[in-house]
Amino acid sequence: MRTDTPQTIYRSDYTPPSYLVDTVELGFDLDPTRTVVANRLTLRRNPDSAQREIELYGEDIELVALRLNGRLLQEGDYAVNGSLLTIPNTPEEATLEIETLCVPEQNTTLSGLYTSNGNFFTQCEAEGFRRITYFPDRPDVMATYTVMLRANKERYPVLLSNGNLLEEGDLADGRHYAKWEDPFKKPSYLFALVAAQLVCQEETFRLADGRDALLQVWVEEGNLDKTDYAMQSLKHSIRWDEERYGLELDLDRFMIVATSDFNMGAMENKGLNIFNTKFVLANPRVATDIDFQGIEAVVAHEYFHNWTGNRVTCRDWFQLSLKEGLTVFRDQEFTSDMIGTELGRAVTRIDQVRTLRQAQFPEDAGPMAHPVRPDSFVEINNFYTVTVYEKGAEVVRMYQTLLGREGFRKGMDLYFERHDEQAVTCDDFRLAMADAGGRDFTQFERWYSQAGTPQLRFETRYDEAAQTYDITLFQSCPATPGQPTKLPFHIPVAVGLLDRAGRDMPLTVDGKDMGTTAVLELLEERQTFVFTGVTEQPVASVLRDFSAPVILQGGYTDADLLHLFNHDSDPVNRWEAGQRLAMGRLLKLTGETAVDAKLSLDDTFIEAMRRMLVDESLDPAFREQALLLPSETMIAEQLSEVDPLSVHVARQFMRANIGAALRTELMAQYQANLTPGPYSPDAASAGKRALKNLALSYLNAAPDEETIALAARQCVDADNMTDRAAALSTLIHARAPEAEAELARFYDEFQGEALVVDKWFAMQASAPTTDIAKVRELMRHPAFNLRNPNRARSLVANYCMNNAVQFHAPNGSGYLFWAEHVTLLDGLNPQVAARLARAMDRWRRFTPSLQVHMKTALQQVAGQQRLSNDVREVVTKALA
Ligand code: PHE
Ligand code: ZN
Repeated sequence: MRTDTPQTIYRSDYTPPSYLVDTVELGFDLDPTRTVVANRLTLRRNPDSAQREIELYGEDIELVALRLNGRLLQEGDYAVNGSLLTIPNTPEEATLEIETLCVPEQNTTLSGLYTSNGNFFTQCEAEGFRRITYFPDRPDVMATYTVMLRANKERYPVLLSNGNLLEEGDLADGRHYAKWEDPFKKPSYLFALVAAQLVCQEETFRLADGRDALLQVWVEEGNLDKTDYAMQSLKHSIRWDEERYGLELDLDRFMIVATSDFNMGAMENKGLNIFNTKFVLANPRVATDIDFQGIEAVVAHEYFHNWTGNRVTCRDWFQLSLKEGLTVFRDQEFTSDMIGTELGRAVTRIDQVRTLRQAQFPEDAGPMAHPVRPDSFVEINNFYTVTVYEKGAEVVRMYQTLLGREGFRKGMDLYFERHDEQAVTCDDFRLAMADAGGRDFTQFERWYSQAGTPQLRFETRYDEAAQTYDITLFQSCPATPGQPTKLPFHIPVAVGLLDRAGRDMPLTVDGKDMGTTAVLELLEERQTFVFTGVTEQPVASVLRDFSAPVILQGGYTDADLLHLFNHDSDPVNRWEAGQRLAMGRLLKLTGETAVDAKLSLDDTFIEAMRRMLVDESLDPAFREQALLLPSETMIAEQLSEVDPLSVHVARQFMRANIGAALRTELMAQYQANLTPGPYSPDAASAGKRALKNLALSYLNAAPDEETIALAARQCVDADNMTDRAAALSTLIHARAPEAEAELARFYDEFQGEALVVDKWFAMQASAPTTDIAKVRELMRHPAFNLRNPNRARSLVANYCMNNAVQFHAPNGSGYLFWAEHVTLLDGLNPQVAARLARAMDRWRRFTPSLQVHMKTALQQVAGQQRLSNDVREVVTKALA
């Protein structure tokens, strides 16, 4: 925890490391109260650097001894400045021996070496390795590691690190050891160790080249009944990467380890992925369909990092999206391929679009807006963002849209051919794509350098006599912090034309046959494309499959949208048309609510929803997406001044109207989509449950005895967590008297399952019935624990980020609660605190009376004497 002014670090200041490291030998004597780390590394001067000192970083560790080529260094032989240790006058080649001490059990930051339930874990990305030993802790320093672990055998029977196990055995005093070697060069952020009492599910798996690999999933003893899905997901991921990208597992052993104390989702340490239990543990009793999906995606994501991130890594942390955007794209494609059907793919694409709108667009429009490749940061941990991850994935997806799947694969092949075992930049990736595809991607670079969500607009003109249809595309991009003006982006805009009957028309542009979906490349601020041979006035379907991460404004009439909602062959745009129909009405209703006007909803809209609900030619999963309204956050993003209560009332009004008007059909769909027989998390079954549970929640948006009885019955009868949690949540939101007792029964039954207790807190935290008094009462519950990130998020973050009505209570009580807990958490775990701090990002957009309270709360946090760089950066930028 520092009290001085935090430093801003600039991308343009990058200089190569002064020394390179060839080998690292680490020795650990593990003890929760006093761990001794011996680090012996061989270095040599980097010919690409003009600097002559050895530079090492260390944080929160005690230096015991430092030896250079066997000579013990005295205080004057080196300089320590903050976390930087500099040794001047060093020879061309050097062997350093560094002995340090740390106290894992007191490490509440969960960065570096820490204990969780008495077991040892490490987390080194981004800059946690320096909390273990002094080291040139930067990703462009890649070395091979040998690791010796020593610990008490009874308490820590399992000793794991990266790579392959060389030997293990017993020592005196009840201790034992294990020696590991990672044959591949890696940056320090990929180092990991685990010393623990754990058990594993394991399997040997035949790789494409005929080698057998040992796969393991390590968990606490009571959780061995929840590892099947993670193991299965791992095998699917390995197969998929072989088949789609020709990339094989390069180790003989691949381990996944679960811990309940983890700041993020999971970590791709070489050969030893460490996971938040949330993304490993699942069985039907405790995990929902969404949890199963999350596990499959995160297991895949971490596995795919083995190539995109580990074999080819980042030169510096500004290039984070090089690995994250690309790896998210890969896990998205994997998820899509695992479902396989065309509509299933569309449903996964729709999920991605929702995430962008729900989280990334607001970030891009707020005080923390930054390019996919940031130009500066104060604390790198604040830049593991939806922009770097999800917008970064969209940027990678655009290469594939522009080059085609095969072209993209050629680009990937070239990228690995050029850069295997190197630390490189986003530009290197872009050049590989350009060179492999024979394309000029110079302008495309702006997707990496310019922040903000581009806005796209279109105008059309049909000339019946000439049989031409012109579409003019306009782009602009709003100012963001530090970037007042923007240059045009290179935007692939996928367009189809529907005839009066709703069929796709064949497309010709510039005499070229473009099939039924043309990818137009918008390069200028304004550009006109002419379709020829257009025999009747069409309806344009613009930005099919969400071909670029932009905001498409206007351009459609209600009649166009209905036509698209009924017929578009592109399921994503079909869904999109429904969202637009709903959004137009939601915005109108929100305005009317604010002035207490009488609300109403037109039959046209209800009828469109009815047709969609009962269209048996469409998968339940797709219908569920099409009936789900834009969230309150998405509605708020469309308003220049937000009154969260009006937004909530408007959306609830629409839900209640749909629930009442479609009661018969919703009841019928509820029955039709029951999934009798044993639970299976497959996409088709999950889709049925999703539609059924959406029907249940619509019915209970206008609740009566019958609808409540239905939900209560489901609570009791459910044989899986998906149905149980959905029914309970519906009861809570319907303010049903049964909710209280069901919540109690739920806790009773699942109090031994930490991840389910998280759900129990989360459900209550995000219910509009949970006010400040109730949330404070929940904080005093014996199961609540602010030190555990999952638990803190389940209650505190959910209240502040997922319960708009209560959080924005007019008296400012939610904001004070926020300030209090950001401050408390900051003393324990700055990364978790900084994520919570971002609940205030959009404070300037709320009604002035709320803004006053929000500003006070922000100033209260900013005025704290002791504040981490993490939180300071967030609140300072919010107030700027
Ligand atoms: N690199 C991890 C991932 O994307 C995320 C992570 C970052 C985990 C920092 C821990 C710390 O898979
Ligand atoms: Zn990642």
